[in-house]
Amino acid sequence: MTESESMLLSRKLQGKVAIVTGGASGIGEATARLFIEHGARAVVIADIQDEKGQSVVKSIGLDRCSYVHCDVSNEEQVKAMVDWTIQKYGQLDIMFSNAGMVSSSNQTILDLDFSQFDRVIQVNMRSMAMCVKHAARKMVEHKIRGAIVCTTSVAATIGGPNHTDYTMSKHAVLGLVRSASQQLGLHGIRVNCVSPSAVVTPLAAKIGLASDEDVENILGPLTSLKGVTLTARHVAEAVLFLASDDSAFVTGHNLGVDGGLISLPFLNTS
Ligand SMILES: NC(=O)c1ccc[n+]([C@@H]2O[C@H](COP(=O)([O-])OP(=O)(O)OC[C@H]3O[C@@H](n4cnc5c(N)ncnc54)[C@H](O)[C@@H]3O)[C@@H](O)[C@H]2O)c1
Repeated sequence: MTESESMLLSRKLQGKVAIVTGGASGIGEATARLFIEHGARAVVIADIQDEKGQSVVKSIGLDRCSYVHCDVSNEEQVKAMVDWTIQKYGQLDIMFSNAGMVSSSNQTILDLDFSQFDRVIQVNMRSMAMCVKHAARKMVEHKIRGAIVCTTSVAATIGGPNHTDYTMSKHAVLGLVRSASQQLGLHGIRVNCVSPSAVVTPLAAKIGLASDEDVENILGPLTSLKGVTLTARHVAEAVLFLASDDSAFVTGHNLGVDGGLISLPFLNTS
C-alpha cells in the first residue's frame, strides 16, 4: 500500500459535512480541527464568539470551514444555521452539539440564583435538544444516516459540592441522548455523547481549573488512571470515534473520557 493510500484509509470522515457548536474554543475547536484532519469536506463552526470563531475558520482554511453566528439557545437561530449548512454544502452528516457554559457563582442548593440557573439550563440543556432536533430533521429529510454527538460531562452521572444547575443540565443531556437514539435508529441515525472530566479551557477556568496543575491537584486523586492529563484533543478523539464508522453499531452510548474517575467505588453513581 502506498503512503497516500494508507493516509486515505486513516481518514475517518472523508467527504463528510459536520456542524460543531461551541467550535470557537476549547473542545469544539480541537474537534473541528481533528474532523478536518480526517478528511471532512466541510466543518461549520456555530458559536457566539464571532472574532474567535472567524479566526479558527481562517486558520483551518476558508475552503473547508465556515463560521456561523448562532446562539444555540435560540431555536430560530439553530434552525437557520442547520438550513444554511444544507444549502451551502448540500448535506449534513455529523452534528457535534457541544456549546456549553457555567454559572458565575457556585450555585449550591442553598444559594441557587434562578436567573443564572435558567440561562445554564437554556444553553446546556434546551440548546442540545434544539440541535439534535433540527439536525435530525434534515438527516431524515435527506435520508442521511448521520451521527449526532453531544458533549455532556462526568457531572451527568455524579453530583458535586457546587454548580447544581450545571450538574442538572448535564444529567438531562443523557435523557436526550437515550431518547433520541431510540427514536432515530429507525432512520439509521446514531446519537451518542461524550463525558469528559476536566480539561483546561476558558469554561474550566471559570470553575477554578485554569491550569493542568489545578486539574491534577483537584481531580488527580480521584482518577484511577495516573500520569496522564486530559486534553481537548483526547476528547476530540472520542468524538471522532462516535462520529465515524468506527462506531457504526454504537448508539445511545455515554462515552466517559475521565481516566476512570466516575468508576471509583466510593463515588455514588446510582
Ligand atoms: N472543560 C471541561 O473541563 C469540561 C468538562 C466536561 C464537559 N465540558 C463541556 O464541554 C463543552 C465545551 O466546553 P469547553 O470546555 O470547550 O469550553 P469553552 O469555553 O472553551 O468552549 C465553549 C464554547 O461554547 C460557546 N458557547 C457558549 N454559549 C453559547 C451559546 N449560547 N451559543 C453558541 N455557542 C455558545 C462559547 O462561546 C465557547 O466557544 C461544554 O458543553 C462543557 O460543558 C467541559
